Amino acid sequence: MKKFSKLFIASLIIGGILSLTACGNGGGATTGGETETGGKEVVSKIEQIKKSGKLILGTSADYPPYEFHKEIDGKDTIVGFDIEIAKEIAKDLGVELEIKDMDFDGLLLALNADKVDMVMAGMTPDPERIKVVDFSKIYYEAVHGVVINVANKDTFKTVEDLAGKKVGAQKGAVQEDIAVNEIPDIELKSLAKIPDLVLEVKHNKIDALVMEKPVANSYVDHNSDLALMDLTFDDGEGGSAVAIKKGNTDLMEEINKTLDRLMQDGSIDKFVAEATALVEE
Ligand code: ARG
Repeated sequence: MKKFSKLFIASLIIGGILSLTACGNGGGATTGGETETGGKEVVSKIEQIKKSGKLILGTSADYPPYEFHKEIDGKDTIVGFDIEIAKEIAKDLGVELEIKDMDFDGLLLALNADKVDMVMAGMTPDPERIKVVDFSKIYYEAVHGVVINVANKDTFKTVEDLAGKKVGAQKGAVQEDIAVNEIPDIELKSLAKIPDLVLEVKHNKIDALVMEKPVANSYVDHNSDLALMDLTFDDGEGGSAVAIKKGNTDLMEEINKTLDRLMQDGSIDKFVAEATALVEE
């Protein structure tokens, strides 16, 4: 009897281990024949998301009207048109959206470490990033604007006026390159958070700050000590796209489907208008 129960327990343990191993391989729910580099079959990203019931978005909520913090019903909430689009992607997948707010320059690392399922942060699909992640189609186009202290409104009028000045850009953002390449001989100051850069302009620690034009507008509209230069920069990439980890073609197809729907029925324009109005409130 004693021997039997030992055997019985041993078989339970082995059975448990076997079923755990099966789980590690997707618990039999393998779909699409996606393989990891090692050739091991893995469950597709989309199945993982559906199984967990949530889509985890990585963003950097310092970029109104794309994504920003706002007190709603007494509660700090992340809002913005990227967030509304992400909610639609989650809805079409039949899951909840969970948001993780982090520094912009940590987003793609978090994505490739599977800490988040997708990134939306007004992110430009530039050639460097395309090497490490996959991008959806562009869902929103914008150029870049330059914010200065209102006291310098008459001093800084052209790009030449900024030559040799201290210019800020978000760390890891395309505006670092834009500033260096478009304005002669600047001293670049990169910081992780946009609000810190805005403070630097206000306190005359830097002379100008480059960011997407809608964001520049938003900060200038809400800070009477800031002004927008009559100057824009166009990058070759042309706008914002959703980033996901490389190779998840099934998830990318679904994301692009949702984006197509939202672009065709005018929802994106509506989300942009609503988010802009929400900044104003
Ligand atoms: N479009 C720029 C880039 O991709 C800046 C985006 C910054 N986004 C943000 N949420 N802070 O580099």
